[in-house]
Amino acid sequence: MSDDEYVLDTPVVRTFVAATRASISAAETPGDACAAIRPHFAELLADPEWLPNEYRQSAPESGMGGGIGQWLLFRAADRSLSLFALVVPPGAETPVHDHLAWGLVGLYRGTQDEEIYALRDGRLELVEKRALAPGDFYALIPPQDDIHRVRTTSAETSVSVHLLTNDTGCVWRHAYDAESGRPTPFRSGYVNVACDEDGAPEDTRGGSSVS
Ligand SMILES: [Fe+2]
Repeated sequence: MSDDEYVLDTPVVRTFVAATRASISAAETPGDACAAIRPHFAELLADPEWLPNEYRQSAPESGMGGGIGQWLLFRAADRSLSLFALVVPPGAETPVHDHLAWGLVGLYRGTQDEEIYALRDGRLELVEKRALAPGDFYALIPPQDDIHRVRTTSAETSVSVHLLTNDTGCVWRHAYDAESGRPTPFRSGYVNVACDEDGAPEDTRGGSSVS
């Protein structure tokens, strides 16, 4: 097994990861863990200094498309936890996608509109729209709220911070056709760190394979 990767190796990140791990070990459910992590996550979103400029940049060649940059900041050796920044240029939007892991997602810079979908009989149903401002965050506990799309509404690039209990950029998950609801295997990757191997998607939920 590889080591923990502190791509952004600072006391703030190490302290946050330690607090997160302590919260997860002490919790009986993902909901309890998220509740315990909330104050630490709020502190991170409120701190204007901890995220260097290089992790607030868009990425023309990104796996998300639209110049959207997914910057890994930390991931656990066993890939059970990752912290990353998602940078979405003005007017750009992600595909409709899922995460396949629970965790917390919050806005750090700019503003975003978020659309949350549920899969009902193979179709995507829009269940909620949220306008997010810096400091806003929420717990994501699949299947609740796991499928969404985000769009930057500010003139400045938006930056959101994701703490999720998988290696989100490297796992095979799903992008969805907004009209038909059809899932396709999706691996976003990270701008700054490679995935372990280029394996095929394990679960395509009926989507076409990528090879
Ligand atoms: Fe997302």
